[in-house]
Parts: sequence; C-alpha cells; structure tokens
Amino acid sequence: MSSPAQPEGNADASRSRSLRGEVWVTRRAHFNAAHRLHNPDESEAWNREQFGPCNNPRWHGHNYVLEVTVRGEPDPKTGFVIELGDLKQLMQEAIIDKCDHRNLNEEVDFLHGLLPTTENLVIAFWNELAPRLRSGSLHCVRLYETERNYAEYHGPAAS
Ligand code: NI
Repeated sequence: MSSPAQPEGNADASRSRSLRGEVWVTRRAHFNAAHRLHNPDESEAWNREQFGPCNNPRWHGHNYVLEVTVRGEPDPKTGFVIELGDLKQLMQEAIIDKCDHRNLNEEVDFLHGLLPTTENLVIAFWNELAPRLRSGSLHCVRLYETERNYAEYHGPAAS
C-alpha cells in the first residue's frame, strides 16, 4: 500500500517473468525409406489395381517428412513447453533411427505386418512416441509422403 503500483512491463529486471497460455510446438525430421503397398489377403490383380505403382514387387522409395507437435504451457522456469533437443532425440530414437534407409515392410519391428500407408504410419508413429514423451502432451503426428500428400493423427482421444 505504501509504494506506488509498478506499471506493467516495468518489472524488476533481475527476475524472470513468464506468460501463461497453451502453445503448440513442432519439430520436423526427415527420413528416406522403401515400401510396398500390398495386401496379402487380396489377389495380385486387386493389389495392382488398388495400389498401382506403389504395388511394385521390387519396392519404391519416398523422402518422408515427419512433423511432431507437442502441446502444453511453457514451464515458468525454462519458458519451454518441451526442450526441442529432447523432442529431436525422442523422434530420432523412436522413429528415425529405425526407419531411415530401411524397408518399412520388412525391417522395422513396430511396423511388422502393417500395410505401410501414410495413414497407418502416423498411427504407428504416435503409438511409439506417446509413451516416451516426458513433457507436454502429444498433439499431432504429421507425415508427408510427398510434397503434396500427407496424413496426420491426433491420437485415439480425438476420434
Ligand atoms: Ni509409396
């Protein structure tokens, strides 16, 4: 009561100020991988018709771009929702190290038996990332198969 109120923005420079609000933070990563779209429950003709060149028995590749978005309030001490270095490492260990320069049909343990469409991949990637995330909450896994085609998944709670 004795001292006049400090005007907003004239805070003590020796103290850190933080703001409240929910923020979406995204990290992007790249990997190259081969795959084949082929449903073994269906005939060769059905597969050729359905998947066209993506059914090529000798595989084909994509330059994938993976974007992972984490949602949360900035930590008052750090100002971060999540340390982007931590998110980079998480994506690297959970996804990139296992998928980069691999055959997605045959070489990735958590994709075994899965038809590796972009749709299935974003769900599988979410399932790998979500349990390992230490801060914030997983909001979106987006995967570009080409510059023009991507799929994104917001988790089971969003459906
Ligand atoms: Ni393809």
